[in-house]
Amino acid sequence: MFRTHTCGELRISDVNKQVTLAGWVQRTRKMGGMTFVDLRDRYGITQLVFNEDTNAELCESANRLGREFVVQVQGTVNERFNKNGNLPTGDIEIIASQLNVLNAALTPPFTIEDNTDGGDDIRMKYRYLDLRRNAVRKNMELRHKLTIEVRRYLDQQGFIEVETPVLVGSTPEGARDFVVPSRMNPGQFYALPQSPQTLKQLLMVSGFDRYFQIAKCFRDEDLRADRQPEFTQIDCEMSFVEQDDIINLFEGMTKYLFKNVRGIELTEPFMRMSWADAMKYYGSDKPDLRFDMKFVELMDVLKGYGFSVFDDAAYIGGICAKGAADYTRKQLDALTDYVKRPQIGAKGMVYARVEADGTVKSSVDKFYTQEVLQQMKHAFDAAPGDLILILSGDDVMKTRKQLCELRLEMGNRLGLRDKNNFVCLWVVDFPMFEWSETEGRLMAMHHPFTHPKDEDIALLDSDPAAVRADAYDMVINGVEVGGGSIRIHDPQLQARMFEILGFTPEKAQQQFGFLMNAFKYGAPPHGGLAYGLDRWVSLFAGLDSIRDCIAFPKNNSGRDVMLDAPSELDDSQLDELNLRVEVKE
Ligand code: AMO
Repeated sequence: MFRTHTCGELRISDVNKQVTLAGWVQRTRKMGGMTFVDLRDRYGITQLVFNEDTNAELCESANRLGREFVVQVQGTVNERFNKNGNLPTGDIEIIASQLNVLNAALTPPFTIEDNTDGGDDIRMKYRYLDLRRNAVRKNMELRHKLTIEVRRYLDQQGFIEVETPVLVGSTPEGARDFVVPSRMNPGQFYALPQSPQTLKQLLMVSGFDRYFQIAKCFRDEDLRADRQPEFTQIDCEMSFVEQDDIINLFEGMTKYLFKNVRGIELTEPFMRMSWADAMKYYGSDKPDLRFDMKFVELMDVLKGYGFSVFDDAAYIGGICAKGAADYTRKQLDALTDYVKRPQIGAKGMVYARVEADGTVKSSVDKFYTQEVLQQMKHAFDAAPGDLILILSGDDVMKTRKQLCELRLEMGNRLGLRDKNNFVCLWVVDFPMFEWSETEGRLMAMHHPFTHPKDEDIALLDSDPAAVRADAYDMVINGVEVGGGSIRIHDPQLQARMFEILGFTPEKAQQQFGFLMNAFKYGAPPHGGLAYGLDRWVSLFAGLDSIRDCIAFPKNNSGRDVMLDAPSELDDSQLDELNLRVEVKE
């Protein structure tokens, strides 16, 4: 037998057993005539002991072991004299009687420890070594557990898992596609799916009724901490359902996962908030509701007193940070600099403190009487000791987004964004369309298959920008973990939608004919949603980036530095593909 136990398994009750272990050398220590070796595998660490007095030759071979050597060892379990309370195996050690070096190892480029000395780049290049580290491996174990529990829950609910192809056709709308040249069809390209959206809708036409898939999706977008060019969705679709049926079922799944994967019981129904309210009160379609600090609009209160910044503004709004009136000038200047950073783009920030006696002292006192400042205090329901922070601007949405950044930053500074506190929210009633400056036309906010709200269908002709959709997102702690919608199943309404989005009937037929034709053969009413698996795992694990829960992620330039991909192709490969490469300057 290669090994009788793992390195995380043996306890005091195993004392005197003859065992064989195999694993990697974490570290060796020489003390007097004894050599101690920490042997590590996926399950834990066990201490091996080699004694010069009893077996000099064996001890000598132990002294020659380097870090990360792969060894097999035989020996007897012994009660440890100096117990190590930090290790589950810390009460025992193995008195070695045989040592077999299975493989030598080069010294790794960084230490395989929880607090490694390796920077990001080097760890990505040697990701297979990084994955040996507890912290990273634990994230992968959590990902496995989450995936298994998702399958268990959806199976119990009668969903069937169907795989859809990864070589599909390019779709307009949405993000940029990754494309793959076809050898057998010279000059033609597949695209990798941005999501299995249309395919899962076709499965509803096939009568599958409840579908899910743990699906790889590919989007050629600019990358951020919560975005990878290839990522994984828990993709779901259901027939004969209304929005509430979908929301309830997946709220159930969310609670099930919190309980079974994270050990947290969420008993209350999740909050629901309209998109319009989310924007008005939090300046974001994914508000972090771990703390309140709602926006208060101040146009009525502060306009018209000769302070031109406010008098000329299209929006004046603020937040009230409870108990932060003791913020120093330096701290307030730092906050002002924060909102003025180019990524945020505010022009400045006005602040006001509520003093112990209730009077308000602001940075714009010369324009406002105490009476007006008191009105402002009441608008915030502010109390002595509170700090009010105000932004204004000539674009309502832009200013709200800036205020959102300020709110989140204050949440951080006041310690209100605890990673172990989870607040789940459904954002509903998204607008159907959004105006694209670059395209100069309306674009589908979710995707072109989303059903408009029945009561808003009449507005499609007169005021499309005001049409709301049967679309919903699930937001946890300010992260959009999932989103979906009720779909259009009427070919005529779908054709109308393409028309509003600027497709000619020919173009719509060419791009989406397969779907519109399928709908002519009896499409059931249907809807669904998709969760971002990577985002969910990183939320459960408290990570700052989804990269840390992906076995082999890409860096911020979309490169796999370990595989050195993407890379150029050989001429022979290009020939086979009938391609000639000319890189534009
Ligand atoms: P959507 O585009 O909102 O919807 O994607 C669903 C969820 O996938 C996650 N996600 C990502 N995660 C990591 N990296 C990315 N680049 C990335 N992009 C998206 C998010 C998001 O909420 N077909 C529809 C779903 C539907 O309507 O059923 C769709 O793809 O967590």
